[in-house]
Amino acid sequence: MFDFFKLGFHAFNIFYSKHLGLIPKSPLIVYLEITRSCNLRCKHCGIWRVNMIDKSLFKTELSTRTIFSLVDDAARMGVKFFYLFGGETLLHKDIFRIIRRVKSNGMSCSIVTNGSLLSKKMCKRLAHAGLSSVQVSIDSPFEKKHDNVRGVDGTFNRAIEGVKFLKKFNPHLNIMINTLLSKNNVSDLKKMIELCLRLGVNGLRLTPIHDKYPFNVKGGVDKSIFLSKDDVGIFEVELLSARKLMIDNGLYTDSSDYYNGIISYFKGIIPRFSCFAGLVAVEVNAYGGVFPCMASRKNVGNLNNSSFSNIWKSREFQECRVSLKKCNNCFLSCFVEPSFRLSPVFALKNLRGLLRDKSMFLN
Ligand SMILES: C[S@@+](CC[C@H](N)C(=O)[O-])C[C@H]1O[C@@H](n2cnc3c(N)ncnc32)[C@H](O)[C@@H]1O
Ligand code: SF4
Ligand code: SF4
Repeated sequence: MFDFFKLGFHAFNIFYSKHLGLIPKSPLIVYLEITRSCNLRCKHCGIWRVNMIDKSLFKTELSTRTIFSLVDDAARMGVKFFYLFGGETLLHKDIFRIIRRVKSNGMSCSIVTNGSLLSKKMCKRLAHAGLSSVQVSIDSPFEKKHDNVRGVDGTFNRAIEGVKFLKKFNPHLNIMINTLLSKNNVSDLKKMIELCLRLGVNGLRLTPIHDKYPFNVKGGVDKSIFLSKDDVGIFEVELLSARKLMIDNGLYTDSSDYYNGIISYFKGIIPRFSCFAGLVAVEVNAYGGVFPCMASRKNVGNLNNSSFSNIWKSREFQECRVSLKKCNNCFLSCFVEPSFRLSPVFALKNLRGLLRDKSMFLN
């Protein structure tokens, strides 16, 4: 409970800093892209092409030593959560050392993975490294549909097996399934929830497909899987009843504000909300670039030239925060949902939900 209140104070510091034009003591979350290498060929994302098209780019990715400095610096500042993503996160040669470094600094460490490398040995090693939570991307409850959109046969079965191994080697690990909402799965949400319940995972996050950076790099996103305006009508009813089904069955998912926004997003209007990108969370990309968020592409520094704490306090970053004050350019759950959760009005309206969800965050 003490940690929950400490988190609340930190959130409040971020909230009033935005409104008073101050720099918060630190973000709560760092999203760290540890590599752009990838072993799948997804239709919705072009990242897999990056290191294949220009192999020299791989050599310019952040060194483990610089990642360690970031982790240590972030911990001193008061960051609570590290999310490691990619590319394929599990392709990083030092993934276990990085997880251990985050955890030994007292922060929560999560990874986002496509699940294809979650072998028995990998899951055992992840459990020993002390990981806090894992988000496994599964885009359909059906093997063929998932493999088709991810571009490599066998991916579905490997991800499912992987979730089972993760549970076996660490029954207390928080496991969440990430599903990208597209034409591919518009009518399969109920089946998706049933799959999550069978697997015994803790949550299901549904994120609408975006044609934004970084997904749109190098030829990017296949437009044929975008929802058309006609699909949205059927989808609206399905989506809201899916959320209810998840809550009724004890699955963690995003807020009703976020779900209402998804519908509006697919109708072509990104809902107005107060975005806390660069305040509650930041992105560090594979080359050390620091950004308030992924989609805005406003670079505020590089870890190869300066420390994270110096970049955080810099005039450049502060000017960038001010310029993004009214940004509504994306509806990516990783920035939008924490932004919703920071608002005191949201907290009062959803106190029961926040208390219910606290085990997803505090470990
Ligand atoms: C970029 S991936 C990196 C981690 C890992 N490779 C994976 O696929 O889970 C992180 C998350 O972004 C999601 N994603 C990929 N393409 C997207 C798009 N066009 N719009 C929104 N989210 C997307 C993925 O489904 C995944 O859950
Ligand atoms: S979504 Fe993940 S697995 Fe698919 S191409 Fe992008 S980074 Fe690779
Ligand atoms: S709305 Fe999206 S693009 Fe704009 S600042 Fe927030 S996270 Fe970044």
